[in-house]
Amino acid sequence: MALSLGVMVTVAVGISACSGGGAGDSGAGASGGGGVGGMGGGPSGPSAYELFLEVEPDLVTNCNICHKKGGSAPAPFLAGETPEERYQTITFWPGIVVSAPEQSILMTHPESPNHGDGEAPKIPDAVKPKVLAWLTAESDNLPSTDPADIGPSVRPFRPLPGGALNTVYLDDLGPEFEYMSISFFAEALGGSSDAPTMLRLTNITVHPVVDRPLHIVHPLFTVYVPGQKGDPDPVDSFSNLDQTFTLGGENTLGTGELVLTNWQKGAYVGIAFELIEVYGGNAGPGTGCKDLAMFKANVAPAMQTCMMKCHGGTNPQAKGTMDLSELNAMMPDAACQEVRARIKPGDPATSQILQVTDPVQPIVHMYKFDGDLNAYNAFKAKVEPWIMAEQ
Ligand code: HEC
Repeated sequence: MALSLGVMVTVAVGISACSGGGAGDSGAGASGGGGVGGMGGGPSGPSAYELFLEVEPDLVTNCNICHKKGGSAPAPFLAGETPEERYQTITFWPGIVVSAPEQSILMTHPESPNHGDGEAPKIPDAVKPKVLAWLTAESDNLPSTDPADIGPSVRPFRPLPGGALNTVYLDDLGPEFEYMSISFFAEALGGSSDAPTMLRLTNITVHPVVDRPLHIVHPLFTVYVPGQKGDPDPVDSFSNLDQTFTLGGENTLGTGELVLTNWQKGAYVGIAFELIEVYGGNAGPGTGCKDLAMFKANVAPAMQTCMMKCHGGTNPQAKGTMDLSELNAMMPDAACQEVRARIKPGDPATSQILQVTDPVQPIVHMYKFDGDLNAYNAFKAKVEPWIMAEQ
């Protein structure tokens, strides 16, 4: 099904452009954020960032042990050394800042009796209202996607700057986009570190899923400063782009790079598409593995857990993302091709399978070796030679 102009508009609900009271600085590190119109409060109320600072010590005390970088939970949403860094991670984490703050996973998940197999705590009752007040201020700041956008769009998100891998899932666009994503690295540049003027995105990569080629025409990146209208990429960098992505094919979006010269700290990024559609059923030829023997000898044994836990075993919840059901076949070429689509041949450091499972990277992935860096490094040692051999 094609989603073209006007057929489908995905809007971040519940926000009007005038909520929040003006061009406040809600960004991380905002100094005196109340000065220019406190976001989410009255003109003199505290900014969202200030409200976060009030609960940050409580979150650290109660949750950090498992949710820090390298903690035992697969969700390092408190990664960072300083409150400002933790603010960036937590506001980026999917499901935390949402338009209905009481439905934020931060409010709901710890209440579940299964949280951390029943071992993990709740947010203390005395702290909960303050967390809700902060999340409410954040949701008031959430940008609304401009109805005049060129086409369907993903909900604007706060990018993680500083060289972390950002992954934006395309699920917002409809069920046929499930598990598809666009990833990139982001770096704020220009001005001063407190007031950057540009956001540089590199390595912009599209991840379709097996058997479902993804066709993208003219993606437009837009900067949303809280309380203001969306401000599209001034040079419309990808205006001529028309690309179809298949699993295992070339998956760099255009040049893979983009500099947003209208960037401001604390802003959100949205991506709209003139056209984005999924072709069903007929995958491209895909690229076969070059060193199937090494895959079978080294990589397949190291990926048994991945298959058993999620990617094709008894609990195949993520089979659509990377189907490893034939990992133990005599000739595991199907599984090899699936994994090959998630590496960069010759470059282990930027290979997705090593990035998403890294316990110290704040990337959403449900399995990170339970925070065990030694286990991760053992996995890496097995996989790296094969990634080189695939070059
Ligand atoms: C003892 C370790 C531990 C502590 C402490 C802990 N958690 Fe967790 N948490 C986990 C584990 C393990 C998971 C993943 C499994 C699950 O779904 O429960 C998790 C998952 C979550 C998730 C879902 C993340 C996602 O992306 O789906 C949220 C939200 C969360 N925890 C919030 C909290 C908050 C808030 C606190 C502090 C009040 C906290 N946790 C303290 C272990 C912990």
